[in-house]
Amino acid sequence: MSEPLVFALPADAGFAGRLAEAAGAEFGQLATHEFPDGETSVRLTTDCSSRDVMIVCTLRRPNGLALPLLFLADTARRAGASRIGLVAPYLAYMRQDAEFHTGEAVTARTFAAFLSRSFDWLVTIDPHLHRIRRLSDVYTIPAVALHASSDIGEWIAAHVESPVVIGPDAESAQWARGIATAARAPWLVANKVRRGDASVEVTVPGLEEFRGFTPVLVDDIISTGRTMMAGAAHLSGRHTRQPVCVAVHGIFAHGAYDGLVAAGAARIVTTNTIPHPSNAIDIVPLLGSSLRAGSTLVQIPIHSQ
Ligand code: R5P
Repeated sequence: MSEPLVFALPADAGFAGRLAEAAGAEFGQLATHEFPDGETSVRLTTDCSSRDVMIVCTLRRPNGLALPLLFLADTARRAGASRIGLVAPYLAYMRQDAEFHTGEAVTARTFAAFLSRSFDWLVTIDPHLHRIRRLSDVYTIPAVALHASSDIGEWIAAHVESPVVIGPDAESAQWARGIATAARAPWLVANKVRRGDASVEVTVPGLEEFRGFTPVLVDDIISTGRTMMAGAAHLSGRHTRQPVCVAVHGIFAHGAYDGLVAAGAARIVTTNTIPHPSNAIDIVPLLGSSLRAGSTLVQIPIHSQ
Protein backbone atom coordinates (compact mmCIF):
# COMPACT_ATOMS: atom_id res chain seq x y z
CA MET A 1 0.00 0.00 0.00
CA SER A 2 1.54 3.34 -0.99
CA GLU A 3 1.42 6.39 1.23
CA PRO A 4 -1.32 8.97 0.69
CA LEU A 5 -0.84 11.75 -1.79
CA VAL A 6 -1.27 15.42 -0.86
CA PHE A 7 -2.29 17.98 -3.48
CA ALA A 8 -2.72 21.72 -2.99
CA LEU A 9 -3.45 24.77 -5.10
CA PRO A 10 -0.39 27.05 -5.39
CA ALA A 11 -1.34 29.42 -2.51
CA ASP A 12 -1.27 26.52 -0.03
CA ALA A 13 1.73 24.65 -1.47
CA GLY A 14 4.19 25.62 1.30
CA PHE A 15 1.83 24.67 4.11
CA ALA A 16 0.73 21.49 2.31
CA GLY A 17 4.33 20.39 1.67
CA ARG A 18 5.10 20.62 5.39
CA LEU A 19 1.85 18.85 6.22
CA ALA A 20 2.61 16.02 3.77
CA GLU A 21 5.92 15.48 5.55
CA ALA A 22 4.30 15.58 9.01
CA ALA A 23 1.58 13.13 7.91
CA GLY A 24 3.98 10.70 6.22
CA ALA A 25 2.40 11.40 2.82
CA GLU A 26 3.82 12.20 -0.62
CA PHE A 27 3.43 15.75 -1.91
CA GLY A 28 1.89 15.49 -5.37
CA GLN A 29 2.61 17.88 -8.22
CA LEU A 30 0.04 19.78 -10.23
CA ALA A 31 -0.12 22.73 -12.60
CA THR A 32 -2.82 25.37 -12.79
CA HIS A 33 -3.49 27.87 -15.53
CA GLU A 34 -5.77 30.88 -15.63
CA PHE A 35 -7.11 31.69 -19.09
CA PRO A 36 -7.59 35.30 -20.24
CA ASP A 37 -11.34 34.95 -19.70
CA GLY A 38 -10.81 34.08 -16.03
CA GLU A 39 -11.46 30.35 -16.35
CA THR A 40 -9.07 27.99 -14.53
CA SER A 41 -7.46 24.76 -15.69
CA VAL A 42 -5.91 22.17 -13.33
CA ARG A 43 -3.56 19.34 -14.39
CA LEU A 44 -2.32 16.65 -12.00
CA THR A 45 1.22 15.62 -12.92
CA THR A 46 1.62 12.99 -10.19
CA ASP A 47 -0.32 9.79 -10.90
CA CYS A 48 -2.97 9.29 -8.21
CA SER A 49 -4.57 6.16 -9.56
CA SER A 50 -5.54 3.82 -6.66
CA ARG A 51 -4.03 6.26 -4.15
CA ASP A 52 -5.67 7.96 -1.20
CA VAL A 53 -5.63 11.70 -1.88
CA MET A 54 -5.78 14.60 0.57
CA ILE A 55 -6.41 18.03 -0.91
CA VAL A 56 -5.19 20.83 1.35
CA CYS A 57 -7.03 24.11 0.93
CA THR A 58 -7.61 26.81 3.48
CA LEU A 59 -10.86 28.52 2.53
CA ARG A 60 -10.19 32.14 3.46
CA ARG A 61 -11.52 33.49 0.14
CA PRO A 62 -13.97 30.72 -0.53
CA ASN A 63 -15.77 32.05 -3.59
CA GLY A 64 -12.62 32.16 -5.73
CA LEU A 65 -11.37 28.82 -4.41
CA ALA A 66 -14.53 26.76 -4.63
CA LEU A 67 -14.41 26.03 -8.38
CA PRO A 68 -10.66 25.27 -8.61
CA LEU A 69 -11.14 22.97 -5.60
CA LEU A 70 -14.01 21.20 -7.33
CA PHE A 71 -11.93 20.82 -10.53
CA LEU A 72 -9.03 19.39 -8.49
CA ALA A 73 -11.21 16.86 -6.64
CA ASP A 74 -13.03 15.86 -9.80
CA THR A 75 -9.78 15.44 -11.74
CA ALA A 76 -8.29 13.25 -8.99
CA ARG A 77 -11.47 11.14 -9.01
CA ARG A 78 -11.34 10.74 -12.79
CA ALA A 79 -7.65 9.79 -12.53
CA GLY A 80 -8.62 6.87 -10.28
CA ALA A 81 -7.90 8.13 -6.74
CA SER A 82 -9.40 5.71 -4.21
CA ARG A 83 -10.62 8.26 -1.66
CA ILE A 84 -10.38 12.03 -1.75
CA GLY A 85 -10.35 14.03 1.48
CA LEU A 86 -10.33 17.76 2.07
CA VAL A 87 -8.01 19.21 4.71
CA ALA A 88 -9.34 22.75 5.22
CA PRO A 89 -7.41 24.39 8.09
CA TYR A 90 -9.98 27.22 7.91
CA LEU A 91 -13.48 26.18 6.90
CA ALA A 92 -15.51 29.03 5.45
CA TYR A 93 -19.26 29.63 5.45
CA MET A 94 -19.86 28.39 8.98
CA ARG A 95 -21.17 31.67 10.40
CA GLN A 96 -24.19 32.09 8.09
CA ASP A 97 -25.81 29.24 9.94
CA ALA A 98 -29.42 30.45 10.07
CA GLU A 99 -31.94 32.46 8.07
CA PHE A 100 -31.40 35.74 9.93
CA HIS A 101 -33.77 37.63 7.60
CA THR A 102 -36.68 36.22 5.67
CA GLY A 103 -35.59 34.82 2.33
CA GLU A 104 -31.88 34.77 3.21
CA ALA A 105 -29.65 31.87 2.12
CA VAL A 106 -28.33 29.58 4.86
CA THR A 107 -24.97 29.34 3.13
CA ALA A 108 -23.43 27.08 5.80
CA ARG A 109 -25.77 24.32 4.64
CA THR A 110 -25.37 24.99 0.92
CA PHE A 111 -21.57 25.09 1.15
CA ALA A 112 -21.52 21.90 3.25
CA ALA A 113 -23.68 20.15 0.65
CA PHE A 114 -21.32 21.32 -2.12
CA LEU A 115 -18.20 20.00 -0.33
CA SER A 116 -19.97 16.78 0.70
CA ARG A 117 -20.65 16.02 -2.98
CA SER A 118 -17.02 16.58 -3.99
CA PHE A 119 -15.08 14.88 -1.16
CA ASP A 120 -15.17 11.62 0.80
CA TRP A 121 -14.09 13.14 4.13
CA LEU A 122 -13.14 16.46 5.70
CA VAL A 123 -10.78 17.56 8.46
CA THR A 124 -10.69 21.13 9.73
CA ILE A 125 -9.54 23.17 12.72
CA ASP A 126 -12.01 24.87 15.08
CA PRO A 127 -14.92 25.46 12.70
CA HIS A 128 -17.44 28.07 13.89
CA LEU A 129 -20.00 25.72 15.44
CA HIS A 130 -22.78 27.72 17.03
CA ARG A 131 -26.37 27.22 15.93
CA ILE A 132 -25.05 24.27 13.90
CA ARG A 133 -23.79 22.17 16.82
CA ARG A 134 -21.79 19.52 14.95
CA LEU A 135 -20.27 19.29 11.47
CA SER A 136 -22.32 16.13 10.96
CA ASP A 137 -25.47 18.27 11.20
CA VAL A 138 -24.66 19.71 7.76
CA TYR A 139 -21.88 17.54 6.27
CA THR A 140 -22.98 14.16 4.93
CA ILE A 141 -19.37 12.87 4.73
CA PRO A 142 -17.21 12.00 7.76
CA ALA A 143 -16.11 15.43 9.00
CA VAL A 144 -13.75 15.97 11.93
CA ALA A 145 -13.03 19.19 13.84
CA LEU A 146 -9.60 19.36 15.47
CA HIS A 147 -8.91 21.96 18.15
CA ALA A 148 -6.00 24.36 18.43
CA SER A 149 -6.76 25.17 22.08
CA SER A 150 -3.78 23.21 23.49
CA ASP A 151 -1.34 24.86 21.08
CA ILE A 152 -2.79 28.31 21.80
CA GLY A 153 -2.85 27.70 25.56
CA GLU A 154 0.78 26.59 25.51
CA TRP A 155 1.74 29.71 23.54
CA ILE A 156 -0.03 31.91 26.11
CA ALA A 157 1.61 30.11 29.05
CA ALA A 158 5.04 30.58 27.46
CA HIS A 159 4.66 34.21 26.29
CA VAL A 160 2.19 36.08 28.52
CA GLU A 161 2.84 37.03 32.13
CA SER A 162 -0.09 36.22 34.50
CA PRO A 163 -2.72 35.82 31.77
CA VAL A 164 -6.48 36.05 32.27
CA VAL A 165 -8.20 34.61 29.20
CA ILE A 166 -11.28 36.53 27.98
CA GLY A 167 -13.76 35.33 25.39
CA PRO A 168 -15.44 38.39 23.84
CA ASP A 169 -18.92 36.83 23.63
CA ALA A 170 -20.97 33.84 24.76
CA GLU A 171 -20.13 31.95 21.55
CA SER A 172 -16.42 32.22 22.32
CA ALA A 173 -16.82 30.49 25.72
CA GLN A 174 -16.04 27.13 24.07
CA TRP A 175 -12.64 28.43 22.89
CA ALA A 176 -11.88 30.52 26.00
CA ARG A 177 -12.49 27.57 28.33
CA GLY A 178 -10.24 25.16 26.39
CA ILE A 179 -7.49 27.70 25.89
CA ALA A 180 -7.51 28.81 29.55
CA THR A 181 -7.35 25.18 30.69
CA ALA A 182 -4.31 24.56 28.48
CA ALA A 183 -2.71 27.82 29.66
CA ARG A 184 -3.55 27.00 33.30
CA ALA A 185 -5.07 30.48 33.56
CA PRO A 186 -8.38 31.92 34.83
CA TRP A 187 -10.98 32.90 32.24
CA LEU A 188 -13.95 35.20 31.77
CA VAL A 189 -16.60 35.70 29.12
CA ALA A 190 -17.54 39.20 27.99
CA ASN A 191 -20.92 40.48 26.81
CA LYS A 192 -21.11 41.49 23.15
CA VAL A 193 -23.79 43.42 21.31
CA ARG A 194 -23.38 43.39 17.52
CA ARG A 195 -25.48 45.94 15.63
CA GLY A 196 -23.93 45.31 12.21
CA ASP A 197 -20.75 44.09 10.46
CA ALA A 198 -18.77 47.04 11.83
CA SER A 199 -20.75 48.05 14.93
CA VAL A 200 -19.88 46.02 18.02
CA GLU A 201 -19.87 46.77 21.77
CA VAL A 202 -18.12 44.56 24.34
CA THR A 203 -18.12 44.76 28.16
CA VAL A 204 -16.18 42.47 30.53
CA PRO A 205 -17.98 41.81 33.84
CA GLY A 206 -15.76 40.51 36.66
CA LEU A 207 -12.50 41.91 35.30
CA GLU A 208 -11.87 43.98 38.48
CA GLU A 209 -10.85 40.75 40.28
CA PHE A 210 -7.87 40.37 37.93
CA ARG A 211 -6.07 43.70 38.31
CA GLY A 212 -2.51 42.32 38.19
CA PHE A 213 -3.22 40.04 35.21
CA THR A 214 -2.62 40.49 31.49
CA PRO A 215 -5.93 40.30 29.58
CA VAL A 216 -5.77 37.87 26.66
CA LEU A 217 -8.74 38.23 24.32
CA VAL A 218 -9.29 34.93 22.50
CA ASP A 219 -11.70 34.12 19.68
CA ASP A 220 -12.06 31.66 16.84
CA ILE A 221 -12.00 34.29 14.07
CA ILE A 222 -10.77 37.83 13.57
CA SER A 223 -12.63 39.00 10.47
CA THR A 224 -13.42 42.73 10.52
CA GLY A 225 -11.65 42.75 13.91
CA ARG A 226 -14.56 44.74 15.37
CA THR A 227 -15.18 42.18 18.13
CA MET A 228 -11.56 42.26 19.29
CA MET A 229 -11.36 46.06 18.80
CA ALA A 230 -14.44 46.56 21.00
CA GLY A 231 -12.90 44.27 23.63
CA ALA A 232 -9.57 46.10 23.51
CA ALA A 233 -11.32 49.49 23.63
CA HIS A 234 -13.37 48.43 26.68
CA LEU A 235 -10.20 47.28 28.47
CA SER A 236 -8.17 50.38 27.71
CA GLY A 237 -8.41 52.77 30.63
CA ARG A 238 -10.10 50.13 32.83
CA HIS A 239 -7.13 47.81 33.04
CA THR A 240 -3.47 48.54 33.73
CA ARG A 241 -2.12 46.13 31.11
CA GLN A 242 -2.84 46.30 27.37
CA PRO A 243 -4.54 43.19 26.00
CA VAL A 244 -2.96 40.46 23.91
CA CYS A 245 -5.34 39.35 21.12
CA VAL A 246 -5.22 35.72 20.01
CA ALA A 247 -7.36 33.97 17.39
CA VAL A 248 -7.37 30.62 15.66
CA HIS A 249 -8.18 32.08 12.23
CA GLY A 250 -6.88 35.53 11.25
CA ILE A 251 -8.88 36.75 8.25
CA PHE A 252 -8.14 40.44 8.92
CA ALA A 253 -10.59 41.99 6.44
CA HIS A 254 -10.55 45.71 5.62
CA GLY A 255 -7.54 46.88 7.66
CA ALA A 256 -8.59 44.92 10.75
CA TYR A 257 -5.00 44.39 11.89
CA ASP A 258 -4.16 48.12 11.95
CA GLY A 259 -7.50 48.87 13.59
CA LEU A 260 -6.73 46.41 16.35
CA VAL A 261 -3.31 47.93 16.96
CA ALA A 262 -4.97 51.37 17.12
CA ALA A 263 -7.55 50.02 19.59
CA GLY A 264 -4.73 49.17 21.99
CA ALA A 265 -3.72 45.54 21.35
CA ALA A 266 -0.25 44.95 22.78
CA ARG A 267 0.24 41.96 20.50
CA ILE A 268 -1.89 40.14 17.92
CA VAL A 269 -1.28 36.44 17.41
CA THR A 270 -2.93 33.79 15.23
CA THR A 271 -2.37 30.19 14.21
CA ASN A 272 -1.27 29.52 10.65
CA THR A 273 -4.63 28.15 9.45
CA ILE A 274 -4.60 31.31 7.29
CA PRO A 275 -1.22 32.75 6.26
CA HIS A 276 -0.63 36.17 7.89
CA PRO A 277 2.31 37.99 9.53
CA SER A 278 0.58 37.46 12.91
CA ASN A 279 0.98 33.66 12.63
CA ALA A 280 2.94 32.52 15.69
CA ILE A 281 1.29 29.18 16.46
CA ASP A 282 2.00 26.34 14.03
CA ILE A 283 -0.84 23.83 13.64
CA VAL A 284 0.98 21.60 11.11
CA PRO A 285 2.08 19.16 13.88
CA LEU A 286 -1.53 18.92 15.17
CA LEU A 287 -2.89 18.20 11.68
CA GLY A 288 0.04 15.98 10.71
CA SER A 289 -0.25 13.68 13.72
CA SER A 290 -4.01 13.43 13.23
CA LEU A 291 -3.66 12.48 9.57
CA ARG A 292 -0.81 9.99 10.01
CA ALA A 293 -1.51 6.32 9.34
CA GLY A 294 -2.65 4.64 12.56
CA SER A 295 -3.70 7.94 14.15
CA THR A 296 -6.76 8.24 16.32
CA LEU A 297 -8.81 9.65 13.42
CA VAL A 298 -9.86 6.08 12.75
CA GLN A 299 -13.37 7.12 11.88
CA ILE A 300 -12.01 8.58 8.67
CA PRO A 301 -10.82 5.79 6.38
CA ILE A 302 -7.97 7.91 5.05
CA HIS A 303 -5.76 4.98 4.10
CA SER A 304 -6.85 2.21 1.74
CA GLN A 305 -7.16 -1.20 3.36
C1 R5P B 1 -18.63 35.38 16.22
O1 R5P B 1 -19.56 34.74 16.54
C2 R5P B 1 -17.24 34.86 16.11
O2 R5P B 1 -16.91 33.97 17.15
C3 R5P B 1 -16.27 36.01 16.10
O3 R5P B 1 -16.40 36.72 17.31
C4 R5P B 1 -16.56 36.92 14.97
O4 R5P B 1 -16.75 36.19 13.81
C5 R5P B 1 -15.47 37.93 14.77
O5 R5P B 1 -15.82 38.74 13.69
P1 R5P B 1 -15.29 40.22 13.55
O6 R5P B 1 -13.79 40.17 13.59
O7 R5P B 1 -15.82 40.66 12.22
O8 R5P B 1 -15.87 41.03 14.67
